[in-house]
Amino acid sequence: MVNTDEYVVTPWEVKGNVNYDKLIQEFGTYPITDKIMNKIEKYTKNLHPLLKRKIFFSHRDLDWILKKYELGEKFFLYTGRGPSGQTHLGHLVPWMFTKYLQDTFNVDLYFQITDDEKFLSNSSFSLNKTKNFAYDNILDIIALGFDPKKTFIFLNTEYSKTLYKIAINIAKHITFSTAKSVFGFANHTNIGMSFFPALQAAPCFLPSVKENKNIPCLIPAAIDQDPYWRGIARAVAPKLGYYKPAQIHSKFMPSLSTEGKMSASDPNTAIFTTDAPEIVERKIMQSFTGGRDTIKEQRELGGTPEICPVYHYYEFLFEMNDTKLTEIYNDCRQGHLLCGDNKFNLTEKINLFLTNHQKRREKALNKVEDFILRD
Ligand code: TRP
Repeated sequence: MVNTDEYVVTPWEVKGNVNYDKLIQEFGTYPITDKIMNKIEKYTKNLHPLLKRKIFFSHRDLDWILKKYELGEKFFLYTGRGPSGQTHLGHLVPWMFTKYLQDTFNVDLYFQITDDEKFLSNSSFSLNKTKNFAYDNILDIIALGFDPKKTFIFLNTEYSKTLYKIAINIAKHITFSTAKSVFGFANHTNIGMSFFPALQAAPCFLPSVKENKNIPCLIPAAIDQDPYWRGIARAVAPKLGYYKPAQIHSKFMPSLSTEGKMSASDPNTAIFTTDAPEIVERKIMQSFTGGRDTIKEQRELGGTPEICPVYHYYEFLFEMNDTKLTEIYNDCRQGHLLCGDNKFNLTEKINLFLTNHQKRREKALNKVEDFILRD
């Protein structure tokens, strides 16, 4: 796709330059207002940069969850991962934010790994393959430092005794016609896929089922997952006697090419958590930027950080200090900062982060069972 206004956002496909304001309207979600941010700030003391920068930009019922919390009713967090490949930096953004929410509000986190979904949606994947990706991805989750006492990770195929009963209770209330209109299922779609949304909705009610009481749920996730909540979980919740799950939605971390989100299917434009320093360096050095064709032009006219993946990497993950981020922005705009130098600095930051992450990932190998739910 060329650089146009066209974009697609579904749970299985994200492409083009996403217009997030338009998406809020299309999906019927709500922008995160200053009022909500002020409320969050009350609990967190300093507001997370991803909120300030509107990387987490949209929500449903976040104000309601905060009100419940204020009244002493604790919520739990629910997020997930579709194990279709190795973890890349874009995946870490919502997970790190989830950890911040867990630490701030001191709440439980349920982490679903949809090895079934990726098996069903990808004709070339065996169950064994998605399971292997699942356990590989779990190392990255653990490496981020989640609290094992409050974090419960499960694979759908391995926790099915518990999940299946909740899923069929959900599925019974969703007609095929609804599933078709929410997800675009067609006659050639396999029937596993048409049932799967019930499984992704199930964890929204899992703690409530376990504890036999209604517990509010907050889902941090990229916005492409919204159809599951809008079309399935929130639609059936009242019928099952549960609260509708609330959500907080993020934007997508851009790829290193001109457009689109970071995607594991294009390995040169995504940085994986296991990449060696020289691989990171090569990928960043070859990245598209918002810079001019020549140094002279860059000095005279300045670059365009808004369209630059290198700048966005700082914004999403690698420069959490607002003053420093603004400095990078201004220096680029005014032509003081050249792309080569900016790339060099970013490479250093990424490699520093990855060296530590890879050590923690190694240590995670023998912690897996502390986190996994089994039934
Ligand atoms: N379907 C998601 C994916 O493909 C995985 C997932 C399951 C998820 N449950 C979730 C993501 C809850 C966010 C929140 O990546």
